[in-house]
Amino acid sequence: MCTQVANGHQRPMPVSNGVTSAGNQRGAKRAPSEYMNHVTTTRYVANGELDDDIHNPIQLRPLPRLPVPLLHNTLVRYLQSIRATVSREQYDRTENLVREFGKTGGQGEYLQEKLLEYAESVTNWSNRWWLNDMYLKNHLPLPLNSNPGMVFPKQHFRDEGQRLRFAAKLISGILDYKVIIDARALPVDRVRYCKPGQPLCMEQYYRLFSSYRVPGEVADSLVSPTSSVMPEPEHIIVACNNQFFVLDVIVNFKRLSEQDLLSQLKRIVDVSAENPQPHVLGLLSTMGRVEWAHARKRLIKVSTNRDSLDMIERCIFVLCLDANMGNPPAEVGKPIDADDEPLAHQMLHGGGTALNSGNRWFDKTMQFIIGDDGTCGLNYEHSPSEGVAVVQLVEHLLRYIDSETHKRKLTRAQSICELPCPRVLRWKLSEESIQDIETARIRMDRHVGDFDLKLHRYTKFGKGFPKSQNMSPDAFIQIALQFTYYRIYGHLTSTYESASTRRFQEGRVDNIRAATVEALEFARSMVGDRVATEAEKMELLRAAIQQQTDICIMNITGQGFDCHLLGLRELARELGEPIPDIFSDESYHHSNYFNLSTSQVLTKLDTFMCYGAVVPDGYGAAYNPHEDYILFAIASWKSCPTTSSEVFRDKLFKSLNDMRALCKRASTLNNNHIVK
Ligand code: COA
Repeated sequence: MCTQVANGHQRPMPVSNGVTSAGNQRGAKRAPSEYMNHVTTTRYVANGELDDDIHNPIQLRPLPRLPVPLLHNTLVRYLQSIRATVSREQYDRTENLVREFGKTGGQGEYLQEKLLEYAESVTNWSNRWWLNDMYLKNHLPLPLNSNPGMVFPKQHFRDEGQRLRFAAKLISGILDYKVIIDARALPVDRVRYCKPGQPLCMEQYYRLFSSYRVPGEVADSLVSPTSSVMPEPEHIIVACNNQFFVLDVIVNFKRLSEQDLLSQLKRIVDVSAENPQPHVLGLLSTMGRVEWAHARKRLIKVSTNRDSLDMIERCIFVLCLDANMGNPPAEVGKPIDADDEPLAHQMLHGGGTALNSGNRWFDKTMQFIIGDDGTCGLNYEHSPSEGVAVVQLVEHLLRYIDSETHKRKLTRAQSICELPCPRVLRWKLSEESIQDIETARIRMDRHVGDFDLKLHRYTKFGKGFPKSQNMSPDAFIQIALQFTYYRIYGHLTSTYESASTRRFQEGRVDNIRAATVEALEFARSMVGDRVATEAEKMELLRAAIQQQTDICIMNITGQGFDCHLLGLRELARELGEPIPDIFSDESYHHSNYFNLSTSQVLTKLDTFMCYGAVVPDGYGAAYNPHEDYILFAIASWKSCPTTSSEVFRDKLFKSLNDMRALCKRASTLNNNHIVK
């Protein structure tokens, strides 16, 4: 997924990239290049296999650095990308600006030269700007606008004891995984096709625990766990009844057993029920980022609050034991479908302030959520990592829990554990802070009430069908999304699809833009705006899929243009150069306003990820293609009169059906032709 990529507005550039180390989070920020250099030390063992460079079969070598694309290529691709979404006149204006920018001896050439120099000096030239633009300078509240939610397969809890047993296993599974992470010993992910076998960058995995996003008045900071000053955290935070408890999971250098964890969790549940708190602190993390930065300043004037906040910020992860949401009882083993929408709501926003929205701390990278009705999943702060790393972790956890459940049953916990009772975090709230919480409460409820989500399992086909047609399933789905948008609105729109650039050191994502001229022509032919025979429609579909596939390959091999243009713009700003006109041009704004924000998050298990739309009049479309079905989560905002998740979902299914029917008719025609 993406958050709204900042447009060409000229905003002051913060001195830092917003990435700090845990040890100096309240002090001076680390210089960006220092942070980036820190991560260059990782080397990737090719496990004795040859990589694509057969003349240099080195077994221990760093990944390649993200290349800087040729300026000419980026400008051509940029123009191509806006062709289907801006008017002819606007296109001509933009073409002139691009020509001026890219001319020999022009500003583009100068900035490109400087960018190439800069790229020599850092591990990944794009990341600092990308992270700021995509996340840290986005001032919208984290829930629904930025943090994705993920729903795990439902569990069956007979009683509270069973829920807490599951929670204890989950904690153990996470700590198990963290041991591997701390040793930097995860098996290296590999590319599956398009130069299969190439290793992928694993840095995102290593940030999953103990990262934290601190709100800022200009930009947020992503606090990294790489400090040698602070000791490794040995506690998690358990949120229960809107209170936060410090649960030490390592005591005297030893990890707590599942039995001890269970005892401690029981104590937390009991204590939290005995002493309800009048003020719901967690709601502060639901605020707009600038408001939260101000509220945080007010909060930490009091040392008790500063200490409590510090415990949350430095914890390994947050575990939320949720109050009942009134969901129907979980049907274990039933495949995820539309009736599981409430589970997605619980993971994304907690159901409003009367339910669990305050039983969260949205700034923490990983929040695991367990309801008392068998619902479980997570909410994660997106800036340290893409969904792929989170999915791998979750699949490890679910396998761990499953194997432990079958291996041995937990014995009955002793009623009184010898460990000290987990400590509840204390807060001393000023009138101002109480008012901040109240403001957050009102806004969060409004935000939750505005959220329009439709979940559906499309079962007519999955990845298998496009593959049988020799088409990329991802491209097939993307073209179906374009066709759907055209079907509803009569035009295409700027579309974001995350494309992983993990083939390169510190690679994150670039943008596969699906609103191509080819997709437009195909959609027009399908709704009758362009006259075409069945065979011609099929040709148009193949052309659209091919173009989408080519753009995808360009992006994953480091030739995407979005990051490149962003780099040129930000470099101009940093060098004190005038910001080139192409960035204040309407086309650039338009092209970075994503009415369709999409991403594929592939899981092997029946789990799914979901997120909100990134603009007020747009859609978020997450999809998870399995071999014979596809899970879709379509989101929009109820307050927008021109969007409806239900309409989009229904039309999307119609588009998928129509595309399959077209392929089938075309192959029948082909076969008849061959027989004749
Ligand atoms: N004919 C037959 N089969 C094909 C095909 C063709 N023309 N093209 C692709 N396939 C097959 C592939 O071999 C693959 O097979 P598998 O299921 O056996 O593995 C399958 O179809 C899926 O391929 P495809 O749909 O083309 O692409 P993909 O799964 O590699 O995904 C991206 C493409 C862009 C989603 C992926 O490269 C990526 O970047 N993923 C990360 C996205 C991300 O970061 N998401 C998280 C955001 S929070």
